[in-house]
Amino acid sequence: MHNSMEEDIRKVLLSEAEIAAIVRRLGEQISRDYEGKKLLVIGVLKGSFVFMADLIRALSVPCGVDFLAVSSYGGGTESSGSVKILKDLDMDLHGCDLLVAEDILDSGRTLSKILEILATRSPRSVRLCAFLDKPERRQVPMRADYVGASVPDEFVVGYGLDYGQRYRNLPYVGVLKPEIYA
Ligand code: IMP
Ligand code: MG
Repeated sequence: MHNSMEEDIRKVLLSEAEIAAIVRRLGEQISRDYEGKKLLVIGVLKGSFVFMADLIRALSVPCGVDFLAVSSYGGGTESSGSVKILKDLDMDLHGCDLLVAEDILDSGRTLSKILEILATRSPRSVRLCAFLDKPERRQVPMRADYVGASVPDEFVVGYGLDYGQRYRNLPYVGVLKPEIYA
């Protein structure tokens, strides 16, 4: 068992300052687009909670928040494609303008299932905001309307993203040393 998270990181991909600039830009874009709408930001637990906490404070428009927890991963680095709802939303989505906040868009399997579920609940609109995007890894067609940063096909942790539930509390995004998950 390691005691330091830093020693498991191969390199820093996004510093705290870079993350802050990304979140500011996303907040401005989203605020412009959701002027006068009924914005409900939906966080996909657990990975999105750090990003979402910063994102909503970068918005100048009012918004509601709700959370959904799904499992698709187990403890590894590949999503299985079977998505199970572990915690459902509390709120009625009828007539709401939904913005789904995700930590990272990878194969796209998790989000495509989530969108299928949300579409059955009569929202007025649904858009996606992915803090990170790994476009090379896509298995199903899926694009986010708002993307913080595209990242290479490497396993990244920090700022909410985990490996085996560790590293979520790193304040930056780093590439995990491959020997940690090999
Ligand atoms: P997808 O269904 O393959 O798109 O998986 C998306 C989910 O996998 C994300 O919400 C993350 O929880 C997780 N994930 C994908 N890539 C990474 C990564 O590099 N680091 C940490 N989690 C990841
Ligand atoms: Mg996740």
